[in-house]
Amino acid sequence: MRTIEIFDTTLRDGEQSAGVNLNTIEKIEVAKQLERLGVDVIEAGFPAASKGDFDAVQRIGSTIKNSSVTGLARAQQRDIDAVWESLKGTAEPRLHVFLATSPIHMTHKLKMTPDQVIDTAVQAVQYAKKFFPVVQWSAEDACRSDLNFLVKIMERVIDAGASVINLPDTVGYITPHKYGELFRYVRENVPNIGGVKLSAHCHDDLGMATANSLAAIENGADQIEGTINGIGERAGNAALEEVAVALRIREDFYGATTRLKLDEIKKTSSLVSKLTGMRVPANKAVVGDNAFAHESGIHQDGVLKEKTTYEIITPELIGVNSNRLVLGKHSGRHAFKNKAVELGFDLTDEKLNEAFHTFKDLADKKKEIVDEDLFSILTNKQTEM
Ligand code: KIV
Ligand code: ZN
Repeated sequence: MRTIEIFDTTLRDGEQSAGVNLNTIEKIEVAKQLERLGVDVIEAGFPAASKGDFDAVQRIGSTIKNSSVTGLARAQQRDIDAVWESLKGTAEPRLHVFLATSPIHMTHKLKMTPDQVIDTAVQAVQYAKKFFPVVQWSAEDACRSDLNFLVKIMERVIDAGASVINLPDTVGYITPHKYGELFRYVRENVPNIGGVKLSAHCHDDLGMATANSLAAIENGADQIEGTINGIGERAGNAALEEVAVALRIREDFYGATTRLKLDEIKKTSSLVSKLTGMRVPANKAVVGDNAFAHESGIHQDGVLKEKTTYEIITPELIGVNSNRLVLGKHSGRHAFKNKAVELGFDLTDEKLNEAFHTFKDLADKKKEIVDEDLFSILTNKQTEM
């Protein structure tokens, strides 16, 4: 079984979500919960971006003991110095430095030739290696980059001392098969890739961030980057809880695991949602309120007989107490009877049948039947006895 490292960027890429702004105290609270969750690396911010980010990275670096803490830098000495100043007192200072490699970014944003990009990346990594034991280099927009150019620049930054190479799908453009091919290609073609760790960093613009991350794992990625609840730029990043739970549920296929304590997932998700103000959609995989809710009669009957009929994940796995049977117009007699017993009613079959019909009439008019509705239906039938 391979262990995949989890690199959490909730506090950096996640905080880049439109409308999100966490203060240092809030960031420390999230970082502590990420440590409890067991992430390997916490990207705490972008120290050169603002004094607030610098302070937060510094405070998180001195608070967190069981996860590595890193900060982001552009390929510039000023940025690298800022990360060093914020993390130099920590046990394993780690730098994440990036430079774009796609023709679109090199031409329009960087206004550099490919050779200038190689030189800049190499100089940044060489400079960083004077301070940092671990340097991660990211090829921004890797998925729209020329493959031969990627191989060439990777070879050079590895020679310069990068020990983790990240191939981000910066704009959420790639599809799983192609992302998998990219990982396989660089493993087979970068001559000095040896012990270098390969990292995947996916965005969700086409809704494929989780699938792409899993494809990367299938093809040799050692580290997955993402955020809690999938928050992040535009449509967000890969949701780490989805990737970790998928690996657990499909261990048979991926043969890979993470160090995450999965039963801390729900708590982490709720904290991030509360502090960022970004609500988790009810139907969101793994952490949505409806992820363990069953409404239709056929499904309710199934889970009442045997949970695995309609539940591939147990709620307990992610720290949720139990599943929920929601009574609505699709619900059946089995769930209705179950709920009646749970509420303390012991009606004859005939009375229960009548109550069920009253419930169905009401359910046709109302979206969800709550306990108060059931109480009044069941009490009427009981007093008629
Ligand atoms: O999406 C991206 O390319 C990034 C880099 C800074 C790694 O977030
Ligand atoms: Zn990103």
